[in-house]
Amino acid sequence: MTTKKQAVFSRLVNELVQKNQGKRIFSFDFENQTYWVKQPEKLTGVWKILKPHPKQSFREELHILKNLYERGAPVPQVILSGEDFFVLKDVGPTLNHWIENAGLNLTPAEKNQILVDAIKALTSLHKKGVTHGRPAIRDIAWRQGKVTFMDFESHSRSLNLQWHKIRDVLVFIHSLCRSKHLSGEQIQYLINKYEEYCESDLWQDVLNLVAKFRFLYYILLVFKPVARMDLIAIYRLFQYLLPLTEENK
Ligand SMILES: Nc1ncnc2c1ncn2[C@@H]1O[C@H](COP(=O)(O)OP(=O)(O)O)[C@@H](O)[C@H]1O
Ligand SMILES: [Mg+2]
Repeated sequence: MTTKKQAVFSRLVNELVQKNQGKRIFSFDFENQTYWVKQPEKLTGVWKILKPHPKQSFREELHILKNLYERGAPVPQVILSGEDFFVLKDVGPTLNHWIENAGLNLTPAEKNQILVDAIKALTSLHKKGVTHGRPAIRDIAWRQGKVTFMDFESHSRSLNLQWHKIRDVLVFIHSLCRSKHLSGEQIQYLINKYEEYCESDLWQDVLNLVAKFRFLYYILLVFKPVARMDLIAIYRLFQYLLPLTEENK
């Protein structure tokens, strides 16, 4: 952008931020390009206790995004930032949008391809020693084969890199299992793909952890008839990962 355009852009953003005070996220268009403005979370009730430092998390996210972008990681570019907002370039619809939106008329094979692209991107992020924190399908974007990771969680330093990776893998697979729009066959296929692209020691650690907690699966089975979505997702996760732990014996 030229300096003049930058000034116009910056004025527009300031106006929009004023108009949308307290709104967590909103998008706008400028010269045929979509941008997203993100602001610190305004929390109420119990969330104030559960997430006590919204301003700090906001600043940490900004720092993480800038840092990762400079390192060439697939994250949205920060175009502008201020005390209480930052502006990101649009990176396309999220994975859950591609999977769940019936109007798009995607075949299961096309959906699988999008998710395999995401699996490749996540495993390659891990190979670079970067973790996401919560790579659920609603926080990963896809456009024309390009995968971008959004909404990074600030990392607690108490956990080591391998543990962060294990958690990422399980969060991702759990979010697949959570989707009502993916069949068991598709999940099985995607887990096999995950294994194919994953660092083998990491995959082994994931399976070991699942095997260690297999007793939970048997407890959950009891609740299956009354289970809600999140529980069903965990149930499905065990259902597909546990047999793999047995194969590895
Ligand atoms: N750069 C971007 N490109 C495309 N969509 C985005 C972008 N940033 C945010 N979004 C959309 O806004 C939603 C919420 O943004 P996110 O950063 O996940 O905020 P939150 O921390 O509140 O979950 C995302 O799930 C996505 O749909
Ligand atoms: Mg999000």
